[in-house]
Amino acid sequence: SVDGTTRNETYDFVVVANRLPVDRVVNDAGESSWKRAPGGLVTALAPVMEAADGAWVGWHGAPDEEVEPFENNGISIVPVPLSESDVNLYYEGFSNSTLWPLYHDVIVAPRFHRAWWDRYKKINQRFADATAAVAAEGATVWVQDYQLQLVPKLLKDVRPDLKIGFFNHIPFPSVDLFAQLPWRKRVLEGLLGADLIGFQRPSDASNFLRAVRRILGFTVRGQQIHVQDAQGNPLRIARAEAHPISIDSASISRMAKDPKVQARAKEIRRGLGNPDVVVLGVDRLDYTKGIRHRLKAFGELIDDGRLEVGGAALVQVASPSRERVGEYMKLRDEIELTVGRINGEHDTVSHTAIRYLHHSYPFEEMVALYLAADVMLVTALRDGMNLVAKEYVAAHVDNKGALVLSEFAGAADQLKHAFQVNPHDIDDLKDTIVAAIALPEAEASRRMRIMRRQIATNDVARWSRKFLESLAKTDDELSLDARN
Ligand code: G6P
Repeated sequence: SVDGTTRNETYDFVVVANRLPVDRVVNDAGESSWKRAPGGLVTALAPVMEAADGAWVGWHGAPDEEVEPFENNGISIVPVPLSESDVNLYYEGFSNSTLWPLYHDVIVAPRFHRAWWDRYKKINQRFADATAAVAAEGATVWVQDYQLQLVPKLLKDVRPDLKIGFFNHIPFPSVDLFAQLPWRKRVLEGLLGADLIGFQRPSDASNFLRAVRRILGFTVRGQQIHVQDAQGNPLRIARAEAHPISIDSASISRMAKDPKVQARAKEIRRGLGNPDVVVLGVDRLDYTKGIRHRLKAFGELIDDGRLEVGGAALVQVASPSRERVGEYMKLRDEIELTVGRINGEHDTVSHTAIRYLHHSYPFEEMVALYLAADVMLVTALRDGMNLVAKEYVAAHVDNKGALVLSEFAGAADQLKHAFQVNPHDIDDLKDTIVAAIALPEAEASRRMRIMRRQIATNDVARWSRKFLESLAKTDDELSLDARN
């Protein structure tokens, strides 16, 4: 116990994220329980958690409900409650209508509201308090993503004993865009409470470093930041580094080898009427993903007679996301109008141009879809990483398939053998889709092998290990430098 206020258990390794790594499941009798959520982050951190006595602090996803701490698969779960109005102001408001669009290069206009900012501060404080209460003396705390950028400083102020890491899963914008944020100083100071601040791409890290220099006036040397207090006295050194996140490639590849999943992939193609070419898009329904650009390109290829309904089919999975946020409602309407128009014009009684699915599916079904797809379209206008691109590659144990990948997704740094495109360039996007469809088998196989090797080596376990190793190093460097 740290300071006497904690009757609770404390932990040596604490992850703090807006969402908990568990989903609620309700059985036929109406009893609810929790099961581990699918996703790379929890898969990567579960072994670390079990080895280090770990806890995960986060919101369980439902408003106006207090959930007692519990244990799930060897992870201690520490729920942070959010009221309906917290969800509205902190999550849908500041996180997803201010920060999300601002950090994704203002694809839609960010909205700046003081009441949202006030609630963001308050909820970040709530997460920091919950974390301080469960972190053991000298513990390592790893804060995740844009919803919690103030947590590092709030924690460091009350718990200087903690080693604090932060990872930003989304892009960090250029300073000219970031400078629009009325609370830009508070956000940078919040992040600089961390000893190590991780980003997806080197360009994200350098955008952040430039913002720190320009907006806070702190000295920056390489990746090191000389953090000062309000009087300008040196406090400590923080670092900003690129640590591109990845997936649990081995388990996806294993799933893709499962005869049941392979049979399901064949069944999916049959269900589409066995077209020559299956093209696939898989995204959260989000304006950053370039779904409209993709639909436009595919629709024009049919208009132009370069693709034919029945010969080619596009399957677009758009999983429901942030459905109460206005821009997401608008986007859904636009996409559904576009799909309806294209299909209405081109479908035959037996075949459809675009099979649009506004659902989310179990992970095995996704792997079957990846396997069924000859060409995967990842046309994000801006994306921190895009794990779908990596999942598609990991699933293609048959070395078939081709990936069309936006250069504006972080994954473009790792997947050099994809067909890289600028999704704003519709003509180029169309030509690239046609080239990916026409790719000779031997060349497809060569590219897929190289990409699979990349993803197999650089998996999510390596990502977390590298980040945590680097975070562990910061202590030595601190003692060398400006603390006194
Ligand atoms: C992105 C963000 C995550 C977020 C996820 C789903 O990947 O980086 O922090 O959890 O989208 O969005 P949601 O708003 O449903 O949590």
